Parts: sequence; structure tokens; C-alpha cells
Amino acid sequence: MEAHLHEWANLLLRWAHFIVGVAWIGASFYFNWLENHIERLNKREGIAGDLWAIHGGGFYFVQKYAVAPEKLPSTLHWFKWEAYSTWITGFLLLIVVYYMNAGSMMVDPSVADIGQGTAIAIGLAVLIGSWFVYDGLCRSPLASRPVWLAATGFALLVLLAWGLSELFSGRAAYIHVGAAIGTCMVGNVFRVIIPSQRDMVDAMTAGREPDPAKGKNALLRSRHNNYLTLPVLFIMISHHFPSTYAHPWNWAVLAAVMLIGAGVRHYFNIRHLPERKVWILPAAAVATAAVIVATSPQVQDWRAGPQEEGESVSWAQVQSIIDNRCVSCHAASPTQAGFSSPPGGLRLDSDALIETHRDAINRTSVQSTYMPPGNLTGMTDEERAMLRQWIRHGATDD
Ligand code: HEC
Repeated sequence: MEAHLHEWANLLLRWAHFIVGVAWIGASFYFNWLENHIERLNKREGIAGDLWAIHGGGFYFVQKYAVAPEKLPSTLHWFKWEAYSTWITGFLLLIVVYYMNAGSMMVDPSVADIGQGTAIAIGLAVLIGSWFVYDGLCRSPLASRPVWLAATGFALLVLLAWGLSELFSGRAAYIHVGAAIGTCMVGNVFRVIIPSQRDMVDAMTAGREPDPAKGKNALLRSRHNNYLTLPVLFIMISHHFPSTYAHPWNWAVLAAVMLIGAGVRHYFNIRHLPERKVWILPAAAVATAAVIVATSPQVQDWRAGPQEEGESVSWAQVQSIIDNRCVSCHAASPTQAGFSSPPGGLRLDSDALIETHRDAINRTSVQSTYMPPGNLTGMTDEERAMLRQWIRHGATDD
């Protein structure tokens, strides 16, 4: 029953996180699009630009003020709860999926033999610390040099990804990089964008001129968020793809994908400007192809050097490995605490099922050490080598 409730907590939080995340990123994309497409020529005094749009069968006319209108409108819409609720649901999801199962989800003794409490403490420290480092950078002299700021920010993210990949399971490392980026993005909304806007509105209410620098700074942070969206969205779906986070160089794979994501975002941000760069998309495609090749099992085999041909294995041996290392979870009724149904819907509790899932076993337990999670059932390297032998050459009594 407890495992069942846990699964539903996971499902409902994930669903909510997804919904509010779509609302947040959707609004963010929309306003960045507005900012990029507003027609700025020959506008009357006080107006930065305007544009026409048609959507859902209606015509819309939007104007942007250079700083602010003369009078505050009676209803002014703010966009903040999308961001806050994305962070809150994301944080709760982190607790349900990772912190409540830190032993199997965060700690991987083959990476670092740390305690569960330590792992959680590091995770939380990363979330909080990232915001202060990022915000500090934005307030430092570096802030006036956007290219250097971006390069430093990226270098620090790669350092974080590498550091976490030396401490956590690949999946937990990835999700914490994503959560750190997400925290900075929400921090931008909570600590900079909304306070700046509130300051402008307060000034107007008090009959003072609002400070244009506040608006500019808010726009800058909003731009930062815009560049971070594609990397963070990749990380949120990456846990379906062990060839990324379970790769021996998972941090470098993540660095490459983040760079590609931010680059693609940049292309779309400057597509309509004279300084547009047509080479970005082809370069991103080539870089993606390079990542696909670099993460392929063939390249990993080749990097590992020639495989010595092991002893031949019998079917009974294969069966016993799967039985001892996998079936506690991957059975019709798992015996592993915390599992009420076979994870991923995958059962390995019969000969036919083991045969059927040969490729999946290869991908998750031979080509990578993604399964068993955190090596919870203590699978040995010899056992992985025996499975490889079976997958390559079949069992002796096949
Ligand atoms: C402690 C429980 C546990 C054990 C033991 C375990 N798994 Fe899993 N397995 C999981 C969970 C949880 C998932 C779902 C993870 C996810 O969605 O990424 C999963 C998913 C999978 C998947 C589907 C993932 C995919 O990317 O296709 C395969 C294949 C798999 N396991 C194979 C194995 C094999 C082979 C073993 C034994 C060597 C094993 N597992 C042992 C918990 C376990």
C-alpha cells in the first residue's frame, strides 16, 4: 500500500510539475517572442513598439511602453505563479523520487560510497549554493560583458556536472544540475524580475517616475532564463535515456547537449535581426550527430579496448544472475521494498521474458551500469561480463 501511495505521489506531482512548467515556459517563450517581434520603427512618444497577431480566431494588438504608461491600469497581470509552482512541485518531486529513495536513486557505490544523508545534504547545498553563485556573477563586474558572463556561467555548470558525476549516480547528477538551473531561473523571477516590477509599480503609485534600469535588469534576467530553458528541459527528460546519464563521460555529454540547446535558442532569438547567424542550426546538427556517435555502444566498446573472450556461459548461469540481481524488482509482484509493480512495466521472471528483453538487458546492465539502480542488488563485474558473453555468443546449451 505504501509503495502504491508513493507511486501516486510521484505521478500526481510529476503531472502538476509538467503542467505548471508548460505554463511557465510557454509564457516565457511568448514574451520573448513578443520582445523579438515588436515593430519598433516610427512609434509615438513613450511607445517602444507594437505588433498585430491573430490567434484562436481573434485579432490582437499589443503595445510595449518604452518604460511605463502614464497611469497604472486598474488591472495589471503579473506572471509569477507559473514559475513558483514549477519550483515547488519540482522540489517535492525531487524529495519523492530521489530523497526518499536516496539509497537506490542517488548513491552509487561504484561512483562514490557516500551515505544517504550526505547525498541529500549535498543535493540541497547545490540547489541553494547555485543561486548565490549565479546571482553573485550577475552582480559582479563581469555582468557588463555578456559573452564572458555566459562563458563563466557555462564553465561553472560543466564543473558542477563533473563534480556531481563523481558523487552521485548519473541520473541524480543530471537531475541536480537541472534543479540547480531551475532554481536560478526561479530565483531570477522571485528575487529580481518581480521585485523590479514591483518597484516600478510602487514608484508610479507614489507619483514618481519608475526607474528604467529596473526594467532593463529584469529583462536581462528574463533573457538568461530564456537561454536556460532548452538545457533544463533536456535534463528533465534525460532520465529516460541512459545512453546520456549512464555514459562514463556523462558530464561531458551533458555539457555538449546544454551548449547545443542554448545555441539553438540563440538562433531563434536573433533569427529576425541583421546579425542573425545562419550557421548555428547546421552546427548544432553536426554537434548532435557527434554526440550520437560518441555515446554509441560501439564507440564505448572500442574505448574499452578489445574484450577478452570470457568463459562460455550456460543458460542456468544467465538465469541465476537475472534471478539474483533483477527479479526482486522486475517481477509480477516485486519483493523489493518500495515496489508495488514491476518498474517500467518490465518483468524478467521467466526464461521467455529474459530472451525477449535481451537487448534491453544489454543496454542497461552490460553496455552501462544503469541497472540495477545504485547496484542495489550487488551485481559483480564478472556477472556483467557473463551477460555480455551470453548476448554476444548465446548460452552453451542454447
Ligand atoms: C531495485 C530495483 C531494481 C532492480 C534490482 C533492477 N531494476 Fe531495472 N528498473 C528499476 C526501475 C525503478 C526502473 C525504471 C527506471 C526508469 O524509468 O528509468 C527500471 C527499469 C529497467 C529497464 C527499462 C529501462 C529502459 O531504459 O529501457 C530495464 C531494461 C531494466 N530495468 C533492466 C534491469 C536488469 C537487467 C536488472 C538486473 C541486472 C534490473 N533492471 C534490476 C528497478 C530495478
